[in-house]
Amino acid sequence: MLSPTSVKNALQSTAPVAAIQVQGWVRTRRDSKDLSFIELNDGSCLRSLQIIAKNSLANYADIQRLTTGASIIVRGALVASQGKGQNWEVVAEKIDIVGGSDDTYPLQKKGHTPEFLREIAHLRPRSNLFGSVFRVRSRLAFAIHQFFQDRGFFYLSAPIITGSDCEGAGELFRVTTIDAKNPPKKADGEIDYAKDFFARPTYLTVSGQLEAEAFASALSKVYTFGPTFRAENSNTSRHSNEFWMIEPEMAFCDLNGNMDLAEEIVKYLIRDIREHCPEELGLFVKFVDKELLARLDFVLERKFQRVPYTEAIELLKKSGEKFEFPVEYGLNLQSEHERWLTEKHFKCPVTVFNYPKEIKPFYMRLNDDDKTVTAMDLLVPGIGEIVGGSQREERLDVLEANMRRHKMNPADYEWYLDLRRYGTVPHSGFGLGFERMLMCVTGVSNIRDVIPFARTPGSAEF
Ligand code: 4AD
Ligand code: MG
Repeated sequence: MLSPTSVKNALQSTAPVAAIQVQGWVRTRRDSKDLSFIELNDGSCLRSLQIIAKNSLANYADIQRLTTGASIIVRGALVASQGKGQNWEVVAEKIDIVGGSDDTYPLQKKGHTPEFLREIAHLRPRSNLFGSVFRVRSRLAFAIHQFFQDRGFFYLSAPIITGSDCEGAGELFRVTTIDAKNPPKKADGEIDYAKDFFARPTYLTVSGQLEAEAFASALSKVYTFGPTFRAENSNTSRHSNEFWMIEPEMAFCDLNGNMDLAEEIVKYLIRDIREHCPEELGLFVKFVDKELLARLDFVLERKFQRVPYTEAIELLKKSGEKFEFPVEYGLNLQSEHERWLTEKHFKCPVTVFNYPKEIKPFYMRLNDDDKTVTAMDLLVPGIGEIVGGSQREERLDVLEANMRRHKMNPADYEWYLDLRRYGTVPHSGFGLGFERMLMCVTGVSNIRDVIPFARTPGSAEF
């Protein structure tokens, strides 16, 4: 029995192979006088492998009816190709047709718009562009684990179902088994969540941070890498209701150490993809973003800027730029402001830090000015915020006061407060948006096109 070789390995062969088996899907087929050329792709790499099917094959008549999208298993000899554009091709001795296709197959040779391809998310990974995006997505995930594992961080699986609203924004998807038509009621008419599955209200997590803090207070350096969910109704090219986040959390670490790590990982990931996905990047440069490589190299070479929020506001005010959203101390930076800072002003990635306490969540450490908290957002050209993080409030009394200020009941977070009661330490962490990072390294401008099956307001197909 011959074990199958991937198209990638076959194309990388250093010598002819007398007997080889490859399998995959027909990209194109064209007939010449006594033979048929098949471009075979199995997704192992961008390129396809040329198969020569001679008319002496027993099922040649069936082979001549093969259309784009059909699946086949090919046995034959890997030989040096006489044709242009490839070093190797397979002269088939046997072709098994596994699954047919026909001319209703939506991915015919011609180029398609991303909008059309989004509607066939189950087939689009078979296209060159999306095959490349999702191979890079896989590599990026691997590189993230490698980055942290090499630096002594432990991987933590934070729960997906949780009782806490980490970001305090109320953008929660409820998890319940209560019968919507006939919910259990309390005496006051409110729904009685004590009778729900978990005997309390539960939600899909918006962030694994609070749980990561517990583990950083034990294993020192941890990171989560998992799905997070936000019920925010923002239909932008940068927001998704289900996205993946990487959240490192470090004990004995202050805001500066946190900013250092955020900058280091962004550079590391760009360098890793530069090195390991050259063919995919080449395709993105051709079809997605001509400036991609220049921009990535620029980010690698430049020192990232750091600027306090107050100063960023002053720069924006003095810019003379007409923004759609107002610029005022105490207001959040909008994407247009973030992009002005990185693209027009500093012309490099920028970390904005020390935001007004009013616009940031309860867990951030209060600065001595009593006005700002140790928040930091890392902004990159083309995307804006890619990382959001902070040093955490480690002082029990200040944390409790923060919670009350945010209209939270400290009694609901006793376990979190325990971390401050027993061996509390300065600690910090951040969240890196996996899809935003992927947009950064691919140049793809819509988050829907870097997620296998995107979930956005009004849309959860597949
Ligand atoms: O700034 P965020 O909301 O921070 C947190 O959730 C913290 N608890 C993280 C932490 O300190 N451990 O989100 C972090 C990052 C953002 O910078 C962005 O890259 C990404 O997550 N993100 C989203 N990505 C896609 N769609 C959305 N709706 C996103 N919301 C945040
Ligand atoms: Mg944020």
